[in-house]
Amino acid sequence: MATVRLDQKSRAMVRAVPDSYTEALAKYFGTGPTDITKAKAQHAAYVEALTNNGVEVTILPADHNHPDCIFVEDQAVVIDGHVLLPVPGHESRRGEQPPIAEFLSNSLKGHQVCSMASPAMMDGGDLLRLGDLFFVGRSTRTNDEGIAELKDLLDHLGHELRIVDIPSHTLHLTSFSSTPCDKIILAPEGYLSPQSFGQLPEGCEVLMMPEQEVYGCNTIGLPGKKVLIADGYPNVRATLEERGFETIVLDMSEIRAADGSLTCCSLFY
Ligand code: GLY
Repeated sequence: MATVRLDQKSRAMVRAVPDSYTEALAKYFGTGPTDITKAKAQHAAYVEALTNNGVEVTILPADHNHPDCIFVEDQAVVIDGHVLLPVPGHESRRGEQPPIAEFLSNSLKGHQVCSMASPAMMDGGDLLRLGDLFFVGRSTRTNDEGIAELKDLLDHLGHELRIVDIPSHTLHLTSFSSTPCDKIILAPEGYLSPQSFGQLPEGCEVLMMPEQEVYGCNTIGLPGKKVLIADGYPNVRATLEERGFETIVLDMSEIRAADGSLTCCSLFY
């Protein structure tokens, strides 16, 4: 997941699929979800996969007024117990945040919660964490003011932040990259190069995947060398399995239809 290290992935929050999900924003990977029953079944399988692999999952109720509400990753950033509530980059999604903020405040009592102020904006989906090194996507959802506020928090925590410019035909940094463990970044040819991430700490590497497997580059690594991956990306799967990961494959078709990926649907805290 985007902003917690592997050893911090014991609890996650998700949000149920609303009946309005067919109205979710879709511009990049998808043209919009069409099958609510299937979307709910895929989401339930996702929750089950997290639970079966040691994650304590809390499911917040759906918000039928916000079709994109399942994409909780965008709404809050949790880093080493600190919570940053960004101004989400798409106006229609800003009303999703209050129940998530309340949940995190109640669950992380005693931790510092700060809120970003407009004109800063950022989606949590633009953050990637590799150990204690952070990357942020400068995108249509995340602007320089938002990046500056994130940098303030990371400076305070002693973590480095690097900026990656997001190609205009993609949504978020995590739409096409992920860290299945604290030493590996998965990224697709044609979107990024290993140089996009700069010089990495010793022992870390960028694994480049074929361009047609861009969606498959979003994965969720879990403790015990397990990794959730989307169905249909054989090179991603083979590459991870060759490196000793146990892959857990999920059908994400109705999530992808709304430009959502594995990491978008949960918030580790
Ligand atoms: N449908 C996810 C988003 O555009 O934020």
